Amino acid sequence: MVGRSGVRLLVLPGVFRPISDSWLLARTACAQSRPRGARVLELCAGSGAVGIAAARCHGGTLTTVDVSRRAALTAWLNGRLNDVPVRARRGDLLAPVAGERFDLIVSNPPYVPGPDPPGSGPERAWDAGERGRAILDRLCAEAPAHLKPGGILLVVHSEICDADATLAAFADAGLQADVAAREHGPLGPLMRARRAELEAAGLLAPGQDSEDVLVLRGTAPAPVPALR
Ligand SMILES: C[S@@+](CC[C@H](N)C(=O)[O-])C[C@H]1O[C@@H](n2cnc3c(N)ncnc32)[C@H](O)[C@@H]1O
Repeated sequence: MVGRSGVRLLVLPGVFRPISDSWLLARTACAQSRPRGARVLELCAGSGAVGIAAARCHGGTLTTVDVSRRAALTAWLNGRLNDVPVRARRGDLLAPVAGERFDLIVSNPPYVPGPDPPGSGPERAWDAGERGRAILDRLCAEAPAHLKPGGILLVVHSEICDADATLAAFADAGLQADVAAREHGPLGPLMRARRAELEAAGLLAPGQDSEDVLVLRGTAPAPVPALR
C-alpha cells in the first residue's frame, strides 16, 4: 500500500492502519520549518507512517516508540521500505527515550473517549478513558522535556478531547502553544459507534455527526544568540 504522503506501507495484523488524522499530522509535520537532518521522534507510532513522512521531508533521522511489539516491528519494516532508517523502540510513551531530545516530536495517540486503555489488544490504539485524555495528559506532561531548544511538538486529536487542556499543558511546560492545523469532517467510525455515550457524557452535542480534528503545536524557546 502507498499512503497519502507517498509513504510505502506494510501494516502487520493488529497494527493501527493510518487514517485521515495520521495524514493531517504528516502534512503538518512537513510544513514546519526544521533544521536539515532533524532528529524526529514519533510517539504512539503504529506503522511509523507519520514519522517516516516527517523524517523524509526534513532529511532527518527517525525514532519511533509504541507499546505494541508488532507496531515496533512494522515501523522498522516501513523504514526499510522507504529508505528511512528507523530506530524502533517498544515501550510506554517516553520511557524508551529517557534523557534524549529531539527537533520534532509527532504523535497521534489514542484519544477516543470510552474504556480505560487496555493492557493489550487492538483497542489499545484508541481507548483513552472517559474523557479521551488518559494517554494525552501523560504525553503532554512528559514530551516537552524531550524537545531541543526551538524544538516542536505536534499532537493530533479531536476537538471533543479538550484542546484547551492540551494547549494549557504545553504552556505550563514553557512551550509556546497554538493550533497548527484544523480539519472539519464526519465523525470517524469509532466515535460514531459511541455517539450515544458521548452525547450522554456531554462530549458531543445532540445530533452532532462531525468534528474538528486539530493538530496542537508546542514550540520550545529557541536558544538566545550569544552577544559579540
Ligand atoms: C491511534 S494509533 C496511531 C498510530 C499512528 N501514529 C498513526 O497515526 O497511524 C495509537 C498508537 O498508540 C499506541 N499506544 C497506546 N498506548 C501507548 C503507550 N502507553 N505508549 C506507547 N504507545 C502506545 C498503540 O499501540 C497505537 O499503535
